[in-house]
Amino acid sequence: MNMRSIGVAATAAALAFTVFAAQDFKQAPPRDKWSAQELAAIGSMRLKEAGERPADVSNAHEQHAEAAVFGRALFNDTRFSKNGQVACASCHSATGQFEDGRQFGQGIATGKRRTMPVMGAAHSPFLFWDGRKDSAWSQALGPMEDPAEHGGNRVRFVRLVLAQYEAQYQAVFGSAPELGTLPEDASPNGTEPERAAWAALSPATRDAVNRVFANMGKAIAAYERNVSYAGSRFDQYAEATVHGDGRGQEALSLQEMRGLRAFLTKGQCVTCHNGPLLTDHAFHNTGVPSVDSKNPDHGRAEGLKKLLKDEFNCLGPYSDAKPQECGELQFLSVDEAGQLGAFRTPSLRNVAARAPYMHAGQFASLDQVLQHYAASPKAAIGHSELAGPGEKHADRQTIQLSAADIQDLAAFLGTLTGPVLQPK
Ligand code: HEC
Ligand code: HEC
Repeated sequence: MNMRSIGVAATAAALAFTVFAAQDFKQAPPRDKWSAQELAAIGSMRLKEAGERPADVSNAHEQHAEAAVFGRALFNDTRFSKNGQVACASCHSATGQFEDGRQFGQGIATGKRRTMPVMGAAHSPFLFWDGRKDSAWSQALGPMEDPAEHGGNRVRFVRLVLAQYEAQYQAVFGSAPELGTLPEDASPNGTEPERAAWAALSPATRDAVNRVFANMGKAIAAYERNVSYAGSRFDQYAEATVHGDGRGQEALSLQEMRGLRAFLTKGQCVTCHNGPLLTDHAFHNTGVPSVDSKNPDHGRAEGLKKLLKDEFNCLGPYSDAKPQECGELQFLSVDEAGQLGAFRTPSLRNVAARAPYMHAGQFASLDQVLQHYAASPKAAIGHSELAGPGEKHADRQTIQLSAADIQDLAAFLGTLTGPVLQPK
């Protein structure tokens, strides 16, 4: 079963539920009328439908309170960087939307993509815009060795974590493995001297370093799991609508409600932005312009290759999952064509609070995003799934939005903003 058919099954279940629920609460006349199918979609977009975050079987420590406290300290510790000034929190600020409001992430150098919020991470089977990681813990290891982000290397970080956090490390993961004398800097991903130093280590030492490094990621993931979205005005509206409560529907203005209607109908937005986080967690080419037209970002096509050879993936030696528990990896579709230039559908929760937009911050405002969908241009690389003006697609019509629709849609997107929940 692929991701899309899971979505359809879930929608069918929600339909049966909402039709029943709507008949039960007919006392207050609804202000806004919706078809049974629209009602089902609205009901399935309530945040509460997300339920408990699915457990990450590849991280045995994900739900340990002590691991989360340890992970939070690591998330905020700037010592884990080349210049002593960059932490995860530098780009994922806990006082905002756990991102940075910039077009490109700014660490040791300037990156090539826009920072993503961490709130939805625990719900998604694949991380990053190109899905090159399959768990929050293995994701966390990427920025630490990325030359534009923390710019460090795993041997340095492992020595540091065991020197500075020995007790906290032991309390969660038990005694650290025997490491002997390690070089200052070494990593399979680093500079040439770092790679040479890594190659000179014994396989047992490399394995021990990797294990401690992986555990740093597992602690960080335990912290991130406690950072999440909370309900918005849209959720109040959806709840009221499911129960046929006209008064409760006043949580949205008529313009915002019209925007929701366009989202579900002529905008076709819900075909990709669906479910409680308003994402299908899948990858699509939507013709978003490249920043560097000579060197366009291949998106999912490259991400997939990286994921399959990542030693920190669900099937790798540092995962706590059994191979048969790594369904997402084992049943990956490797249909290269559709993946070229495709990026992960972002959640639209709190979207109005975190411009700029798209994988490389191509658009400064929601208005620009909506103008993009109204124009549905051809893709710079690969093929856009959106049908351009006058184009005939087998499974999609051209998105036709008037200036008024665009204003209504922007107003609706604003109703998806709610608080960010995080540990005190
Ligand atoms: C220099 C800024 C910067 C730093 C430092 C940084 N990140 Fe990020 N983060 C980004 C960018 C940019 C992306 C998207 C990159 C991509 O898709 O290629 C991202 C993506 C993510 C995601 C993916 C969210 C999703 O839904 O897929 C998570 C989780 C995350 N970062 C956590 C972390 C953690 C944990 C650290 C510290 C170990 C960290 N980041 C350090 C900029 C940064
Ligand atoms: C074919 C699937 C698809 C459809 C249809 C679609 N989206 Fe998207 N949406 C995406 C993907 C994929 C991205 C990220 C693209 C990128 O960064 O290159 C995105 C990005 C966005 C963003 C930017 C969010 C962010 O954090 O950067 C917004 C806002 C958005 N879409 C709203 C809408 C609205 C409103 C509609 C309907 C008019 C719509 N989308 C239709 C898949 C889709």
